[in-house]
Amino acid sequence: MVRGTCSRTGTREEGPQVRIILLGPPGAGKGTQAARITDAYGIPHISTGDILRANVREGTDLGTQAKRYMDAGELVPDEVIIGMVGDRLNEPDARTGFLFDGFPRTVPQADALEQLLVDRETPLTVALRLAVAKAEVVERLTGRRTCEQCGRIFHLTYDPPSVDGRCDDCDGELAQRDDDREDVVLNRLEVYAAQTEPLEHFYWERGLLRDVEATGSPDEVFASAQGILDGFHRSA
Ligand code: AP5
Ligand code: MG
Repeated sequence: MVRGTCSRTGTREEGPQVRIILLGPPGAGKGTQAARITDAYGIPHISTGDILRANVREGTDLGTQAKRYMDAGELVPDEVIIGMVGDRLNEPDARTGFLFDGFPRTVPQADALEQLLVDRETPLTVALRLAVAKAEVVERLTGRRTCEQCGRIFHLTYDPPSVDGRCDDCDGELAQRDDDREDVVLNRLEVYAAQTEPLEHFYWERGLLRDVEATGSPDEVFASAQGILDGFHRSA
């Protein structure tokens, strides 16, 4: 299996590790915030979408299987995702702390993650829900560009690169994701409402759900997330 791009590296802070999931619709800013949070707390960024896209690029069996679902904005079957995540959690960097971006996405995935973490005696610290209006996410996604080399995320209006089409960090080429066409985005939002929103109740029932208002600038959103996470980080 191909692992996908990781967030920018470099740990600013050492300390007890936190185990986070990011909830929120497509375009809420999960990838954008994940890069900041994983840098700040020194934990790996595990994005199931990035792992799947890396497998598509490499032409693996997993990638071939996943591509038709992704192109249509549908979810990849649970058994494929759960196996992939189980393998990733076995890697040494993810044994004690991690941030999941785009996983879990269904109740069976959340049940499977809960069991994996019980087995490892590493319970989840928090589920952060990024809240943003539908009209805004459509604009965010249609203007998104991603570095093909390092995975850094840009936006043509809100966070443009210094040089057109090139990444500020590594000079890699910026590309538009295949599933960021407006018709596919609208289907992804419907799929989120039907299959992923029930997870908000799942984590609320367990006392793990915390809300982050995701409409300010990326730095403002990060400051809100940090306000919540610092409390857990100190007591972890
Ligand atoms: P995935 O890659 O997880 O995509 P997603 O959940 O649809 O979310 P996005 O990556 O589109 O949005 P984001 O919230 O990360 O926003 P970003 O930070 O980039 O999944 C893709 C597909 O893979 C799925 O459809 C499915 O097929 C499959 N898949 C993945 N995981 C799966 C699973 N667990 N089970 C089954 N199938 C799975 O930001 C978006 C844009 O907005 C950027 O341009 C950014 O610069 C900009 N922006 C961010 N924050 C702000 C802000 N505060 N203000 C202004 N602009 C902002
Ligand atoms: Mg993302």
